[in-house]
Amino acid sequence: MTTAHDAQALLQETFGMSPAVTVRAPGRVNLVGEHTDYAHLPVLPMAIDRALQVAIAPTDDPAVRVVSAGFDGIAELPRDGGSAAARGWQAYAAGVVQRMNDVAPGCGAVVAVAGDLPHGGGLSSSSAFSVGLMAALDAAWDGGLDRDTIAKRAAEAERTAGVETGGMDQQVIAHALAGHALRIDFYPFQHRPVPLPAGLAFVVASSGEDAPKGGAARDAYNGRVIGMRLATAVLAEKLGVEPSFPLRLGDIAEIDVVDLLAEELQPHGTVKEIGDQARIPISKLARFSVGSWEIDRPAPVRGVALHILSEAERVNAAVAALEAGDLKAFGETLNGSHQSLREHMECSTGRLDKLCAAMRRAGAFGARLTGAGFGGHALAACPPGAVDGVIEAAQGVTGGAPAFPVEASGGYEVV
Ligand code: GLA
Repeated sequence: MTTAHDAQALLQETFGMSPAVTVRAPGRVNLVGEHTDYAHLPVLPMAIDRALQVAIAPTDDPAVRVVSAGFDGIAELPRDGGSAAARGWQAYAAGVVQRMNDVAPGCGAVVAVAGDLPHGGGLSSSSAFSVGLMAALDAAWDGGLDRDTIAKRAAEAERTAGVETGGMDQQVIAHALAGHALRIDFYPFQHRPVPLPAGLAFVVASSGEDAPKGGAARDAYNGRVIGMRLATAVLAEKLGVEPSFPLRLGDIAEIDVVDLLAEELQPHGTVKEIGDQARIPISKLARFSVGSWEIDRPAPVRGVALHILSEAERVNAAVAALEAGDLKAFGETLNGSHQSLREHMECSTGRLDKLCAAMRRAGAFGARLTGAGFGGHALAACPPGAVDGVIEAAQGVTGGAPAFPVEASGGYEVV
C-alpha cells in the first residue's frame, strides 16, 4: 500500500522540498451507468480505497513542476500557458495548470505523485490525477475553490488533453462518501449518496489488457460520444424537437419516448450519411466535440443509443435494489449492463467477457466491465464469503493479473 509518505519522500528527493499539504485522491469503480454521463443520463459509481497521493510545495517562480512515481520524466509547466506541446500524462498536468490560470497568477509549485491506484484503464487514474493535482494547487495557492468547481475544472482540463469525458469520474472523486455509492444526475446536476447494504462486497480484477485514456482507447471512447451526438440529432429530427448544443440523448425527451424511436435508427452508416439524415451540418456538430469527425468513419448510432437508454433504466433499478437490500436484483443490473456494453456499445473484449463469466460462476451476484471498456478492469459484486473464490477465478482467466477487494471510500482529502 502506498501512503502519503511515498509522495512526500519523492518530493523531497526530486525537488529538495517538504510538502505544505498532501492530497489523497481516490480512484473509482462505476457500479452501473456506463457511457451515460456524456448523454446527461445518470451514473452510480463509488470511490475506492486505492488512491493517488499528491504532495505539493508552493514556490515563487511562475511554473509548476510535477514528478510521478508511475511515469517517466518531469512535467515543466510555465504558468503563462506555454505548455501546449505536453503529451501523455503530462498533457493532463498541463490542462490542470491551464485551468488554474486565474488562481494566484505568478506563483508556482513543485509536486510529487505516488499511489496504489493501477492505471490500466477503468479505475479513473487519470481523473484521480487531475482532481488531486488541482486540489493540491488550490490548497497550496489558497485558491478557495469548492469541490464542485474543482470537479468541473478537472473535467475541462481532461477535455483539453483530448478526452471527451462526461464528468462522472471527477464528480465522484470530489463528492463520494465512505460506505456509499453516489448517484449522479447531470440534468439538472445533482448527486446523492446511496448506502451500500450489509452482505455486499466488491472485487476489482484487471483483464491484463491496458486501455489507458491517453492511448488507442481514447479514440474508441471519443467515437462512442460522436455516435451519441449523431443519434441525438436523428432522434430530435424525428421528434420534431429543436435540440440544444452540445447534443445529448438525455436532453431531448423522456427516455421511454426516445427509446421507442431508437429501435428504428439505422444500424450502420458513416458519419456523413447519418449527419445528412439529421439535416445538421457535420461542422456544426463537430464544434462541440473533441473527437475526430472524419466523414467516412462508421457511426455506431443505433447500438450506442440502445445501450445508453437501457443503461439509464438500469441505474434506477440498481438504486432501488440497493435500497431494498435485494442483492440478487442488484447483481442482475450489473450483468445486464455488461451484456449491453458487449452487444450494443461494442466496448467489451473477449477477455473481459470471460473474466465476468468466471467471477459469476465463483458466486458473484453480478459482474461487468467497469469504466469505458476496450480492456482495463472488471468489477464483481459478491457476498463477503465469496471474495477469495472470485479473486481466484479471475486470476485463473487472466493468468494472475491483479485482482483485489475494494471498499467504498470518501472523496479527495487535503491533509
Ligand atoms: C470514462 C469517462 C467517463 C465515463 C466513462 C464511461 O471513464 O471519463 O466520463 O464516460 O468513461 O462510463
